[in-house]
Amino acid sequence: MKNKIETILSEVKQKIANIKEKNELFHLHTEFLGKNGKISTLLKDLKNLSADERPKIGEILNKCRNEVENLIKLKTEEIDNRILQEKLDNEKIDVTIPVKPYKTGTAHPISVVQRDLMKFFESRGFEIKYGNDVETDYYCFEALNVPKDHPARDAQDSFYIDPETVLRTHTSATQIRTMEQQKPPIKMVSTGMVYRIDDIDGTHSPIFNQLEVLVVDENVTMCDLKGMLEDVLKFLLGEHTQIKLRPSYFPFTEPSAEVDVTCPKCAGKGCSLCKNTGFIEMLGCGMVHPKVLERNGIDSEKYSGYAIGFGLDRMAMGRYGIDNIREFYENDINMLKQLK
Ligand code: DAH
Repeated sequence: MKNKIETILSEVKQKIANIKEKNELFHLHTEFLGKNGKISTLLKDLKNLSADERPKIGEILNKCRNEVENLIKLKTEEIDNRILQEKLDNEKIDVTIPVKPYKTGTAHPISVVQRDLMKFFESRGFEIKYGNDVETDYYCFEALNVPKDHPARDAQDSFYIDPETVLRTHTSATQIRTMEQQKPPIKMVSTGMVYRIDDIDGTHSPIFNQLEVLVVDENVTMCDLKGMLEDVLKFLLGEHTQIKLRPSYFPFTEPSAEVDVTCPKCAGKGCSLCKNTGFIEMLGCGMVHPKVLERNGIDSEKYSGYAIGFGLDRMAMGRYGIDNIREFYENDINMLKQLK
């Protein structure tokens, strides 16, 4: 019996040394420690031994069983560790690899100027109005005091869809739609693209962007207009900005003015953008013509108003020091990236 036990133990040791996988270990367990396993059978045979042999052999057999159990346990740990190590080696994360840069786009410079201006006017209680890109001749011209034979139409040579329908040449059409819908007090702002048959050059493009402002109330004066212009242009272009109102003509305002501002590129010293004048032209404005008010059912004796038409492309050119409007529409990603 003793010899048998020793043979079993050395057999187990030999087999276990060659085991690589867990299922082999499982078979080994069954072979020796299973219900009919070699060790279990010997344990059952103990009863056939004599009374003084039984405890001695029993003790040896128990030790053998414990040793086999221990060997299996150690082998299990060894295999588990090996599997874990293999996993760690294969799924290793190199935390020193630099992270790939995450590319995000940025808003187009014209959109940035547009949003800033909208925020400014919204914070001052102006209501946002949405106009139409395709307008009727009436809203675009007629109601703004520009009848069919008016020479001002030449300056806004237009894309007509049919004799009465046109791609809007300015956002001023929204003034009329607003006055039709609501009575004073009116404080509205509207922005979008406008279209004109213009030859493309450094400062002209057949599509560009405008932002329209209209205020109608009792006792609105040119002082209100000038104060608002100073506020908004300083907000947009910096506190040092000075403004200059030049008398001008628009059929829908009287008096009318064009507004020049300190050149943002050279701060007034003179450069290519301002053609060495230190100022650049930014917008048109004026006091709403009484005829325009009356046509929309607003009593021009009681009410007065001002209107402003910002050229957003010009403002963006000024703000970012760009002297060619085409840059905005060529979608050159490298140039757009520089304008944050
Ligand atoms: N609509 C004019 C244009 O496109 C700009 C303009 C001038 C708008 C005076 C106004 C204004 O609201 O009062 O040339």
